[in-house]
Parts: sequence; structure tokens; C-alpha cells
Amino acid sequence: MTRTAPDTAPYTERRKHLQDKMQRGIALIPTAPEVARNADAHYDYRHDSHFYYLTGFAEPGAVLVVLAGEEPQSILFCREKDAEREVWDGFRYGPDAATVHFGFDAAYPIEQLDEKLVELMGNQAALFYPIGMDAVWDARILKLREAVKAKARTGIRAPNEVRDVREPLNEMRLFKDAHELDIMRNAAKISTGAHRRAMRFTRPGQYEYEVEAELLHEFCRYGARHPAYTSIVAGGANACTLHYVGNKARLSDGDLLLIDAGCELESYASDITRTFPVNGRFGAAQKDVYEIVLAAQAAAIAVAKPVNSWNAPHEAALRVLAQGFIDLKLCKGSVEAVLESESYKQFYMHRTGHWLGMDVHDVGEYKIDSNWRPLQSGMVLTVEPGCYIRPSDNVPRELWNIGIRIEDDVLITSNGNEVLTQAAPKTVSEIEEVMRHE
Ligand code: GLY
Ligand code: MN
Ligand code: MN
Repeated sequence: MTRTAPDTAPYTERRKHLQDKMQRGIALIPTAPEVARNADAHYDYRHDSHFYYLTGFAEPGAVLVVLAGEEPQSILFCREKDAEREVWDGFRYGPDAATVHFGFDAAYPIEQLDEKLVELMGNQAALFYPIGMDAVWDARILKLREAVKAKARTGIRAPNEVRDVREPLNEMRLFKDAHELDIMRNAAKISTGAHRRAMRFTRPGQYEYEVEAELLHEFCRYGARHPAYTSIVAGGANACTLHYVGNKARLSDGDLLLIDAGCELESYASDITRTFPVNGRFGAAQKDVYEIVLAAQAAAIAVAKPVNSWNAPHEAALRVLAQGFIDLKLCKGSVEAVLESESYKQFYMHRTGHWLGMDVHDVGEYKIDSNWRPLQSGMVLTVEPGCYIRPSDNVPRELWNIGIRIEDDVLITSNGNEVLTQAAPKTVSEIEEVMRHE
């Protein structure tokens, strides 16, 4: 928890935007609970992304209430100041300071939430909250609504309509504002530096966790204390396990190393994959496969622009991969036949990307009315084709256990895109150069 209050402008702007989308009613957005790890130890605290997006407030034990309509208001419920607890756990704002520092209309102690909510819900037409996210909240909120209903004889009505507040919020978060893009560019910069550092460091005989340590060091020394997801550091055959996070094996001369790692900076994720030779030089078969994945990624990035559909990059990558798999004798027949039969799925079984933002697999619909949505300026997505060749009778032996993925973070701009993670070496010559000289 930092004592430095953020610039309130982006957050007040977003709350206003939410009020416009709600039109009328009351919204309630709780932050995340603290989670016990074992005994008295907790996992490092991570606030709820929706809550933080609207507040910039990083303490646990807080709830945001937003009123839309004739008298719009933003009200924070948070922990009270507590001199004794602050000696143990550190500074907390308390309602008075939070009101001023974060630009709320009012703030109250979290203990008063239920009582105040019964008051605030009265005569509101609609109630917005994250329905179904947490069974305890579901029960609590519906019980409070019943308490408002019990006041019917005094002429007070309870909200008739209950809606998921994540619907408008997901759509808002899909389009990144200037404040978010600044942070995402910085997160990308730190993560590209970490991949470069890993390439410089790696030698045969090291353990995967030694390389992981280099990544974490580079994240942390620039203020990104946490990775956005568990780093995948997968040497040789381990790269063919998509979610390999063991990171314990020894790196062999002649193998490739796949690293999928990105830092979280100020609540925003970066997500980069690079694959490079442990000894600094691609072998012939490795290079053949690598160039195909690289070409697939280039084809996908080329079509990641307005107003192509969300699926255009995936389709473009698949065509290049299908032709490459035929050339490598991994698949038989024409490109059309490989796409039609989906025989490529033996070697490429995931999709080519996802939205990226506060969450690594960020919020936002991929389809609208059952059609892939068009790409629009301000969206950020990953482009991450790969090829994973497990030993099999139908596979040439020299290709066994090659696993390659290349992943970048791409911002859609008004007439094209900006690759936020461009600085991480990617071509065969760039990678071999970095590993030779740095
Ligand atoms: N690192 C998670 C992903 O690439 O989707
Ligand atoms: Mn990734
Ligand atoms: Mn990804």
C-alpha cells in the first residue's frame, strides 16, 4: 500500500462515465478480500481490478457505492484509522482523508455499510453489483434489498431491477485511456528489459529457476514487484506443456528455452513470450520452425487494426502456420484441407491472443450478437502464435520436443497498431546478436 494518493482525475472521470452508462440507480463494487496462504501468512494483497479502476484506492476492506441519476454521488466505505493496527500493518487513510485524497463525495467506516446501504438503496430503480462473483456478497446484498422492501409501508421502494455492474465496466475497461496506456507502455518496457536480460544471462547447465530469478529481479528493480502471472520458463520439451510453471529443470545445450513472463506495474499487466536457444545459436530444425511462427505472428499483427474483426489475427496466423506445417511434413494436404480438418491442432491448440489490461486475460466481450467484434482504437490485445511438437509417429524425428511461442502486446490505434513490446529481441539475428555480445 502506498501513501501517495494517485492523480484523482482519471478515476473521477471513470466514475462519471459509469454513472452515464447506468443512467439511474445504485452500484456497489467491493474490493477483493485478503487471502490466507498458511498459518498467519497472507498472499500479497491484490485489490479487485474493477474497484481499483474506479478508485485508485489500494487498501483491503473497502467498497465503492456509486449513485447515478438526478443526484450523482461516489461514496467510499473503508477501514477507519486505527493507531494501534497501523503500528503493525502500516498506514491507512480512513474515511476523512480518503474523501479528500481520492475525490469522493463522501466516505464512511466500512462497519456502516449495511446500515447506509439500506438508506441509499431506497427509491433507487436499479441495483448494480457483480452478481455471482461471491456467494457471501450475493446473500448479503439480497438480504439488504429485503430490508429496504420491508419499508414499503413508509412509501420507500426497493430497486426492482438487479443488474451485473461488470457489464458496463467490462466494456469501459476494454478501451484504454491515456492514463492506462502510459502505465501499460511502462510495464511493457520493464518486461522487454527482463526478456533481454534473460537472453543475456542464459547458458547451458543453468536451471530454469535461475533464469526466472533474473526476470523477477528486473521486474522488481523497476518497481513492478509482482509478475502479472506465474512466469513460464520452459527448457526443451517442457515448452510443449502450455502451462508449465515447474521451472526446475536443467537447461541443455542444443535445446530452446521458452519464456512467457510479464510484470504487473501499477495494476496493469504485460504479457510477453520469447523463445531462444540455450546456447545462443538456433539449430537448423529449430530455425525452420521458429521462422514459421515468426511469420505467422507478423501476418497476425499486420491485420490487427480497425476495423478488422477480433478473429482476423487468429485467421491470418493459422494460414501461415498451416502452410508451414505442410512444408515441415507435420500436416498433409492443402492449406484449405488442413484448416478444414483442423489437423493443425496437434501442433497449435490455442487461440492467437486475448485482451490485455489490468488482468492478463482482461475483461471485454469478444463477440457482439454472436459475431466477432471489430477491432477499435484503444483496445490492447496479445498476439501469440506458437507451435508445440510432441514426439509422435507422424512427426519427423528432428522436430520432436520443439516448442515455440512468440507473444507481443499490441495497442490498436486509429489507423493500425503499436506493438508495445517491440523492444524484446525477436528475429533470429536479433536474438543471436544479443546472446553473443551482451
Ligand atoms: N501468459 C498467459 C498467456 O499468454 O495467455
Ligand atoms: Mn503469455
Ligand atoms: Mn497471453
